[in-house]
Amino acid sequence: MCGIIGYAGHRPAVTVILEGLKRLEYRGYDSAGMALIQNKELNVVRAKGKIRELEDKLAFQDPYHATTGIGHTRWATHGLPSEENAHPHPDQEQKLALVHNGIIENHARLKRELQQLGCSFRSETDTEVLSHLISQELKQQGSVPRAMSTALQRVEGSYAVALISLNGEGRIWAARHSSPLILGLGQGENFVASDIPAFLPYTREVVFLEDNEIVQITPSSWQVLDGSSLEHRDKEQVHISWDVQSAQKSGYRHFMLKEIMEQPRVIRDCLAGRTDSSRATTLLPELDHLPLPRRLHIVACGTSYHAGLWARNIFQDWAGIPVEVEIASEFRYNRRIIQEGDLILAVSQSGETADTLAGLRQARQLGHRVLGLCNVLGSSIAREADGVVYTQAGPEISVASTKAMCSQMTAMLLLALHWGRMGGFLDEPARRGILRELEELPAILEAELEGMQQTAQRLARKYAWCRSCFFLGRGDHFALALEGALKLKEISYIHAEGYAAGEMKHGPIALVDPEFPTFALAPGNALQSKLLSNLQEVRTRGGPVVCLAPPGLDQDVDDIWEIPAIQAPLNGFLFLSAMQLFAYEMAVYLGKDVDQPRNLAKSVTVE
Ligand code: G6P
Repeated sequence: MCGIIGYAGHRPAVTVILEGLKRLEYRGYDSAGMALIQNKELNVVRAKGKIRELEDKLAFQDPYHATTGIGHTRWATHGLPSEENAHPHPDQEQKLALVHNGIIENHARLKRELQQLGCSFRSETDTEVLSHLISQELKQQGSVPRAMSTALQRVEGSYAVALISLNGEGRIWAARHSSPLILGLGQGENFVASDIPAFLPYTREVVFLEDNEIVQITPSSWQVLDGSSLEHRDKEQVHISWDVQSAQKSGYRHFMLKEIMEQPRVIRDCLAGRTDSSRATTLLPELDHLPLPRRLHIVACGTSYHAGLWARNIFQDWAGIPVEVEIASEFRYNRRIIQEGDLILAVSQSGETADTLAGLRQARQLGHRVLGLCNVLGSSIAREADGVVYTQAGPEISVASTKAMCSQMTAMLLLALHWGRMGGFLDEPARRGILRELEELPAILEAELEGMQQTAQRLARKYAWCRSCFFLGRGDHFALALEGALKLKEISYIHAEGYAAGEMKHGPIALVDPEFPTFALAPGNALQSKLLSNLQEVRTRGGPVVCLAPPGLDQDVDDIWEIPAIQAPLNGFLFLSAMQLFAYEMAVYLGKDVDQPRNLAKSVTVE
């Protein structure tokens, strides 16, 4: 959600910024822009729409030679997507310009105040108040960090900002509060960005900025200051092990397909170094300081929430831990009973989702322990939780999350095993069996993905006419049905609802007719016969039924999609991949923008 890149170096800034913005496209956006200082003048170029519109505009300008600049992709919150509302926003006198990610909650009050001082606003954004506010302070204070510090102390809400000013050619200043911002350290060049892929071709040395810090970069130096006292802060430099390859499509047509196909590797990477088969145990030093939870509250959004729902029974069955799973936007406002010894598990790929982060902060404030399950290293949730387990899935670029869920499921299996042993719930032979199956899982999935893609393609073409459909499942597969429906909605814009199969008859079945297909997840477990009865109810009403089931299903349905029979709950990984591929093939067939679906953002950093 909004992407920021700032560059101070020796290369032409336009090229570096455009490339960086393209690598941030996955976050979701509807306009883009950049600001540069050339010949002692501030130049701002902005365009509605995709980055290529911005490139077209730049092609009609005199070439820019500047080697410092800031760029932005905007996901509209305040004000429509338009050129005027696109960032960067200059101040009245065109002496500075800034880009912003987040929401300034008290913008209306600040705007009225600034208007009384004579500032005229040219956009409908909340961001523009920041440009005017910092500019006013700059006149009083004379130094950019001081002006930023004073201005930002008056701001309520969340922000990551990067700023250039005629006052300091060759420099960029940046600050953050509850929105991600990372410093990239190169040779004779430095970067600030919302996410690492933006500068990955140039450096893998990073510094994670904290709330209430201001950073100043030049091509040859960087300095982090306390946002209030402006005193120097020592920061740890971190080496990122991702390579550029992991943030590229590597020959695949879309990131989403690449990320689905990567899932066998993702499972291996998540398990790597975390199991000890000789002792049938897990190695999770991250959990050493945490006691066995009495109860677990899983808090998450979107796909991560579905991963939590999927894992609920596993924690209960393997570790005897009762589990509540709650959508973070509800959790943060609901009153609930959390007792001594309960643990909150905040599941988030990005580690920046505003609702999940708020839930974490609230729980910690009340004195509860929080464990983060995150993919992005150094993200806010990872840093603010009492402990973090990383899913080690590598960068996920496609907006529709796929491999992240696979890695979260794997990591939660490890957590359940860990606590199952700790609480004496799982004996050694049981653990040994689970670990053996887990180790075999990547190869099984690898062998299936290509064939699954072909089936997904055939079925997507056959059902591309449908405007609405159901995904049904029971037990763990109910969570997967929800995810199958979410994937289809997100990228093909077909209305799909995930339902617990047994609940169908209590209302939703009224929708069923010959133009309303049902995709059923039938893993062949103890509830199979009940699920098949539910499907008959659908068929009786003329609804087409596609059944995903292990070989040997003898059932009168329209299509059977055979999924290899492997032990539950690991069969969930196969069903998940099948549905991801189905949604992918449907979106491709319908000509949709697979990696950047309309209206969506990869990381939702606003409430
Ligand atoms: C956004 C994304 C979803 C994602 C959700 C939670 O809505 O579009 O794909 O599942 O955020 O993200 P998180 O980073 O917290 O897992």
